[in-house]
Amino acid sequence: MISGILLQVTQITKKFRNLIAVNKVSFDLHRGEILGLIGPNGAGKTTLFNVLSGMYVPEDGEIFFKGRNITGMRPHKICKLGISRTFQVTKAFSHMTVEGAVRVGAYNRKSENEVKEKTEETISFFKLGNIRHWKCEDLGLVQLKRLEIARAVATEPELLLLDEAAAGLTSAELSELMELLKTLRDERHITLCVVEHVMQMVMGLCERIIVLDYGELIARGTPDQISQNERVIEAYLGKRFSR
Ligand SMILES: Nc1ncnc2c1ncn2[C@@H]1O[C@H](COP(=O)(O)OP(=O)(O)OP(=O)(O)O)[C@@H](O)[C@H]1O
Ligand SMILES: [Mg+2]
Repeated sequence: MISGILLQVTQITKKFRNLIAVNKVSFDLHRGEILGLIGPNGAGKTTLFNVLSGMYVPEDGEIFFKGRNITGMRPHKICKLGISRTFQVTKAFSHMTVEGAVRVGAYNRKSENEVKEKTEETISFFKLGNIRHWKCEDLGLVQLKRLEIARAVATEPELLLLDEAAAGLTSAELSELMELLKTLRDERHITLCVVEHVMQMVMGLCERIIVLDYGELIARGTPDQISQNERVIEAYLGKRFSR
């Protein structure tokens, strides 16, 4: 499954005035893997996603995607190259219908006449057919989260960055989400980077995990290694996840 480096992040630093939100972070993401990115509130996870997807330009460091330097590229260009992301708080499409939001994703790569086909295929794959005419603002949490992933997948990414896709889901909904993400990786060959506080998802889904704390990468390893790492337990997990 794992073959080659898809994303290489070297020494990325992003500051907000005096606050160093991401501090010299380096890591690789292998093609076909599911990488977890965890850490306490305010650790810099979303900021790192914002840098990777081009919303913020880092003060320092470089990002290579498929061997190409994408540091400082505009978001739409990065998306066209094959990186898509979901948002922690979904607001952007509130007045649109479900179908409209999916179509926005499909427009990223497809010519006009292919958009309809991609939209239909995505609606069907994500089982959104019965709510396709609903306004996004009328959706429940689970539907909204599914749509958010559908919109991102409609752009046909090679790398999908998921920001807290599991927050607020019940245990059954969580299992369904994990199955969906495995399917995206196994059948659509989408590499995943998952920011998540829900440890059941992180430990059950990810092959490797990296940990941020105050903007710094403090640990990297397998779920087993991370759950036993003293520094991670101290900074984030607490005793309940240590074995
Ligand atoms: N646009 C911004 N302007 C100023 N400070 C910001 C901005 N965005 C984030 N920060 C700060 O940067 C730090 C990292 O925030 P970030 O949202 O990346 O954390 P996070 O790891 O995603 O946290 P959470 O788990 O709560 O989502 C925090 O101290 C936050 O207050
Ligand atoms: Mg966040």
